[in-house]
Amino acid sequence: KPIYVLSGPNLNLLGTREPEIYGHQTLDDVRALCEARAKARGYGVVFRQSNHEGQLVDWIQEARTDAAALVLNPAAYGHTSIAILDALKMLSIPVIECHLSNPAAREAFRRETYVSLAATGVVSGFGAASYELAVEAAAGLLAR
Ligand code: DQA
Repeated sequence: KPIYVLSGPNLNLLGTREPEIYGHQTLDDVRALCEARAKARGYGVVFRQSNHEGQLVDWIQEARTDAAALVLNPAAYGHTSIAILDALKMLSIPVIECHLSNPAAREAFRRETYVSLAATGVVSGFGAASYELAVEAAAGLLAR
């Protein structure tokens, strides 16, 4: 089964969106990094982005049966979405939360993250490399 890599709202504009915070790499660049890292560990990647909470919930439900592990950058929904938290609680696969920035070092409202309650682990603050490290962490957990 593949590693699912899901990204939440506004990450479709990665590269142009506040590049001083999120960097100049696009989401397609991030996809290529994830695919290369997963391939090196013997995994395929299902890489998707949505601006819509319900779509993310649907994909997380799909990951219950179709994914080996889930890497999720919930973006702002991590701070607000109990629906995404509840969907994650139904998974029995590794869940790696990832963020390009380090939300703990930013505004106070970014310190509250519901998604972390259901995450196996969190990778934050390394820009596009956060996704790569999250894929690596997922593969590492699966190899145990
Ligand atoms: C983010 C951090 C969130 O606080 C923010 O709402 C995002 C992106 C990140 O990748 O650093 O949209 O998840």
